[in-house]
Amino acid sequence: MRPTLGGTVLAYQELLKEILIDEETLQERIAALGAEISRDYKEKSLHLVCILRGAVMFLTDLMRQISIPHTIDFMAISSYGAGIRKSHGQVRLTMDLKDDIGGRDVLLVEDIIDSGNTLSSVLELLTVRKPASLKVCALLDKTERREVAVPIDYCGFVIPDAFVFGYGLDLDEYYRNLPFIGIVNPQRFQPPE
Ligand code: IMP
Ligand code: MG
Repeated sequence: MRPTLGGTVLAYQELLKEILIDEETLQERIAALGAEISRDYKEKSLHLVCILRGAVMFLTDLMRQISIPHTIDFMAISSYGAGIRKSHGQVRLTMDLKDDIGGRDVLLVEDIIDSGNTLSSVLELLTVRKPASLKVCALLDKTERREVAVPIDYCGFVIPDAFVFGYGLDLDEYYRNLPFIGIVNPQRFQPPE
């Protein structure tokens, strides 16, 4: 079942089981993360690296809560095979960073850590470019589903094992614009495995 089934995209309410994290709770937590990052990186050359596309909304809100000078860049990756969520360590770089990260204090901004495979591959990829430091800021962490141990230095929320959408996260590329994180109704939408 796809939200685009029959050529029409369903209203999000038809796919939503419940709201997991509302807009106010998200914004409060992001403000706290921004303050923490601003303190920790005070004397550093903070460079935020956003992984497209899911982390876009998180990045734009987070950077407005960071009070120290910093720069941003973007990269895009995809798992092998369309609709495959678990990449088993295999990710493909579909868009590289614009700038060299050598000698910079890189903070990777991710939407959600599930098995950990994606993050683990990205960290490997960036480590060889010799940043001064490399840390991770993830909005959501599904700890129960972890297959590979990954370091998460800044975490927004630990969430249960449910497929979520909104606030950057998609269902078949739609609903990224929702200002909250919702749990999908499994009877209406089968998440990719
Ligand atoms: P991992 O490699 O298994 O950690 O998967 C991470 C990626 O899977 C994320 O960047 C998302 O693109 C996707 N993903 C995992 N869980 C969800 C979810 O609940 N909703 C939407 N995307 C998800
Ligand atoms: Mg993602």
